[in-house]
Amino acid sequence: MTESTGNTPSSVPPGIPYPPPGSIAQPEYAPGEREALIAKIKRLLGEKDAVLVAHYYTDDDLQMIADETGGTVSDSLEMARFGNQHPASTLVVAGVRFMGETAKILNPEKRVLMPTLEAECSLDLGCPPGKFIPFCDAHPDHTVVVYANTCAEVKARADWVVTSSIAVDVVNHLKQQGKKILWAPDRYLGSYVQRVTGADMLLWQASCIVHERFKAEALQNLAAHHPDAAILVHPESPQAVIALADVVGSTTQLIKAAKELPNKVFIVATDNGIFYKMKQAAPGKTFLEAPSAGEGATCESCAHCPWMAMNHLRNLAEVLETGSNEIHIPEAVRIKALTATQRMVDFVKQQQDID
Ligand code: 13P
Ligand code: SF4
Repeated sequence: MTESTGNTPSSVPPGIPYPPPGSIAQPEYAPGEREALIAKIKRLLGEKDAVLVAHYYTDDDLQMIADETGGTVSDSLEMARFGNQHPASTLVVAGVRFMGETAKILNPEKRVLMPTLEAECSLDLGCPPGKFIPFCDAHPDHTVVVYANTCAEVKARADWVVTSSIAVDVVNHLKQQGKKILWAPDRYLGSYVQRVTGADMLLWQASCIVHERFKAEALQNLAAHHPDAAILVHPESPQAVIALADVVGSTTQLIKAAKELPNKVFIVATDNGIFYKMKQAAPGKTFLEAPSAGEGATCESCAHCPWMAMNHLRNLAEVLETGSNEIHIPEAVRIKALTATQRMVDFVKQQQDID
């Protein structure tokens, strides 16, 4: 096994000023403004033949609008698949930039807009193509598997794109074929997949600034106060946190667990935007945020992605009105990125056909 920690280039670019989780405030709305914006967005979605594709980590109002207008609120896999199955000519993707790019890679004939193009992801930033492509070239005997949280150029260099909900299945499939895997960018998800599958994996070393802050010791203390609680953990979290989990899974898998497990209380180690859907899926149950910076943490460290928080009612309304913030990907890059991305979509379809 070739788990790598030392021989990948340092993948967190020095000097990038990450906004701390929880540091980007939601806009304050004047009396009546919120309701007016919601009504305007619903009207514009219809007028512009547009549909809203939102991630679970976005603002509750955006999730509510997506639900009420025939859009979707989902994990990154279903966000990628949704555009293809929906007739609207415009997809408005509320999430972070790689999600808009993935939608465009799979739906070139559609207009893809985002409330903001500045919503980054530390995994994407931590895997710049200028460093990643030479690293792949230096390991030609490895199958390159990248997490969806990457830019189009990185996907274009990959053999497979995966999301957290199917990473284990894809890596198992490749392992059965005797493949050695070069995995990027999330080191925690990569080492989790490696532990579960036993595959031969070389790991890039980026991480999610939200999930890497969850703290095992504080989580253990919280769990001791709630002995009947089940612990739900996203696999972008550190190994010591994953080790405490009752369920490890993608956002959709964690919501499913909240619904299906008999427990009445859950401690959740992922972005707290997920609580909107968890509470809908499991009404009457109690959801507690896993501690993200040790005991007594302030909101500077709270479990909420600062880039997801950049999506709000004002910029959603504006983008629908003006058609700004369109995603464009050079066609040569898109075509190459499509191969690995479509492989993921086809793999999921095959799995569903078998089930
Ligand atoms: P999911 O694919 O589980 O939605 O995760 C995406 C993500 O960015 C988690 O931080
Ligand atoms: Fe990226 Fe982490 Fe934000 Fe998800 S929560 S978009 S992995 S920075």
